[in-house]
Amino acid sequence: MSSAPSAQEQFDAQASSILTAVYLTPDVVAQREKVLALLAPKHGECALDIGCGPGLTTEALALAVGESTEVVGVDIAPPMLAIAKQRCNHYAAVKFEQADVTQLPFTTAQFDIALASQVYEYVEEVDQALRELARVVRPGGRVALVDTDWESAVWASHDDARMRRVLETWDQHIPHPQLPRTLKRRMQQAGFENIRVEVVPLLNLAYDPQTYSVGMMTLLGNFAAGRNGLSEQDIAAWRDDARAIGAEDGYFFSLNRYVFLATRS
Ligand SMILES: C[S@@+](CC[C@H](N)C(=O)[O-])C[C@H]1O[C@@H](n2cnc3c(N)ncnc32)[C@H](O)[C@@H]1O
Repeated sequence: MSSAPSAQEQFDAQASSILTAVYLTPDVVAQREKVLALLAPKHGECALDIGCGPGLTTEALALAVGESTEVVGVDIAPPMLAIAKQRCNHYAAVKFEQADVTQLPFTTAQFDIALASQVYEYVEEVDQALRELARVVRPGGRVALVDTDWESAVWASHDDARMRRVLETWDQHIPHPQLPRTLKRRMQQAGFENIRVEVVPLLNLAYDPQTYSVGMMTLLGNFAAGRNGLSEQDIAAWRDDARAIGAEDGYFFSLNRYVFLATRS
């Protein structure tokens, strides 16, 4: 068992609101559009948004499949579901359920398509969750799974040792910080075929609060402070350094997300 905090512990009201703001930055808006285009939802396709978080993908799916087609968002964290419900309350065919993705409250083959963005890396029993996904998607149905390999992070700093330590500590926030490298095999075993992988890089070249990396510094810093020998002062110095390197026009952040597209066999 990993020692990562549970999703319910991590996604309290404050963290859910910070993450929602990060997911509205142009970086993540562009990522969402790319993933949607790869999944290519068709009008009338019944859709499932796994680990829907603040409902941004749920809304995008609803717009793509048409307003009379059922779209369901499922998540374990009540603060996330509250944000998602508010966002989507004017879509009559959008529903939300609180559930664990390892035990989905849906019938077999209920959905034509499913999307899970940045979710399975949080799930200890990821193979069980993938089997549940395979159960609720109809044969021939399509899925898109997005996960990050945090080892792909490149982040400029005047103190590389401290940066490495912050990133190593951040790895502990989830049970599978390098999930993409094993995800294809896991999906095959769970019952998916025609698996194709695309990389979606996030690249920030300026210290700008309206970017993914600067937005995420609050969550990374809150998690890392007090862990792995990192004090509040270390984290404050880490943040100040990012700002300073930005002022010198030397800010550089790059991270890879991987999109796994597949068909239910
Ligand atoms: C990083 S957020 C991503 C949110 C959303 N998919 C998006 O891309 O906008 C991860 C979400 O997965 C949910 N989650 C994590 N583990 C879960 C589980 N075992 N069952 C259901 N939801 C889970 C969290 O509550 C959180 O809302």
